[in-house]
Formats: sequence, C-alpha cells, structure tokens
Amino acid sequence: MRTRYSSAQIVLHWLVFVLVVLAYATMDIKNTFAKGSLIRELLTLTHYSLGFCVLFLMCVRLFVRAMYVTPAIKPLPPRWQNCLAAITHAVVYLMFICLPALGILSQYYGGHDWTIFNIRMPGSYLPDLPLQKQLKNLHGWLADAGYYLIGLHTFAALWHHYRRRDNTLIRMLPGKNQRDKSLLRE
Ligand code: HEM
Ligand code: HEM
Repeated sequence: MRTRYSSAQIVLHWLVFVLVVLAYATMDIKNTFAKGSLIRELLTLTHYSLGFCVLFLMCVRLFVRAMYVTPAIKPLPPRWQNCLAAITHAVVYLMFICLPALGILSQYYGGHDWTIFNIRMPGSYLPDLPLQKQLKNLHGWLADAGYYLIGLHTFAALWHHYRRRDNTLIRMLPGKNQRDKSLLRE
C-alpha cells in the first residue's frame, strides 16, 4: 500500500508553492521601485505570468487528484482532524483558483493592452473601470487572506510532523519507492 502522494502530485505541489511565493514577492518588491519605472513594469508583467501559471497548475492538480487515491495518514488522526484538513484543502484550491482568476478579470475590464509571457491578452471592448477597481480590491483582499491560509496550512503540516509525529508531511515530500500505479483509482 502506498504511503506517499503520487510523484505528479508532489512535483505539482512544490512547483505551485514556488510560483505562489514568487507571485507575492513580485508585488512586494515592485512597490520599492518608482511608479512608471521599467523594472516596476517588468515585475508587474512577471506577476501576471506567474499568477496565470498558478491558476493553470491548480486546475491540473484537481485533475491529477481525481486520478489517485489519497494515501492515509499514519497513525490515523481523529475524524474531526481529517474533516478539518479536507475543508482547508478545499479552501486552498478555491482560493488559488479564484485569486488569479480575479486578477485576470480585472485586467480584462481595464481596457488597455496587457500580456502573459509577452503574449497579448484580450481586453473587453467595453472597459468598465469601476468594475476593474472592485475586482482589483477583491484580488488584494483575497491575496492578504491567502497569507493567513498558507500560514495555517504550513503550521498544520509542521504540527503533524513535529508534534503529532505522523507521516502527513513525509507523504508530500519526494522519496524512494514511488509506485504511482498502485495509487491509481480503479
Ligand atoms: C496566485 C496568484 C496571485 C497572487 C498570490 C497574487 C497576489 C497579489 C498581491 C499580494 C497583490 C498586491 C495587492 C495589494 O497591493 O493590495 C496583487 C496585486 C495585483 N495583482 Fe495579483 N496575484 C496573483 C495572480 C494575479 C494574476 C493572474 C493577475 C492578472 C493577470 C494579477 C493581477 C494583479 C493586479 C492588476 C494587481 C494590482 C497591481 C497594482 O495595483 O499595482 N494577479 N496580487
Ligand atoms: C511550506 C509550505 C507548505 C507546506 C509545508 C505544505 C505541506 C503540505 C502537506 C504535508 C500536504 C498533505 C496534507 C494532507 O494530505 O493532509 C499538503 C497538501 C496540500 N497543499 Fe501544501 N504545503 C505548503 C504550501 C502550500 C501552498 C503555497 C499551497 C498553495 C497552493 C499548498 C496547497 C496544498 C493543497 C491544495 C494540498 C492538498 C493536496 C491534495 O490533497 O490534493 N500548499 N501540503
């Protein structure tokens, strides 16, 4: 019986982790440069590209997740903890799909050209600046909430590892004897 997540899930998890860190970092670093400067512009465009990758990979993760059985935690936690973990994971998926989607929508309604990986993205024929502002605000609020959510998620993983001493974290770390076929759903 498999004791870890599949290799695909592990790779995707840590790749998304790096992209999320970089998406936050680009916005934080951007604010240290003068408005209108080239570097500020580049950081903003990088933010869009990183955020788009997060959206895409989170959707891929949902598909991959449906293909594999989630390995059980050993020793088995109480039922309420499993429920809480399931709810938190659902919220994390929802958050990191809605957050970039709102960012993209806000650009769409902006009425000016914008790019992802230097590819020109469509904008609405009828720009709606008040709506764009609302979407940007919502994006900013969700991004702030995202810090706390990831903090909680990370705390839970470390609590399981160091306090409860179960294999929750080990299941999400790369390791040997990955036989992914044995985890595929029938
Ligand atoms: C996981 C993905 C993303 C994260 C974690 C994220 C995070 C953030 C953060 C922390 C801010 C600063 C908010 C503030 O200053 O109140 C921000 C601003 C913004 N983000 Fe994102 N974002 C993501 C994806 C995207 C995507 C895909 C787009 C659009 C293509 C986007 C467009 C924007 C815009 C337009 C702003 C406002 C920038 C400004 O007013 O200067 N974001 N984002
Ligand atoms: C240092 C930071 C992080 C650590 C230590 C960590 C650790 C873990 C661990 C141990 C699991 C397995 C939990 C279980 O099965 O009960 C997990 C699952 C998960 N993590 Fe993270 N994580 C981190 C950051 C992130 C970030 C930034 C995201 C954002 C997208 C994320 C999204 C998820 C999701 C959606 C799951 C559920 C996986 C599934 O069942 O499909 N994690 N994480």
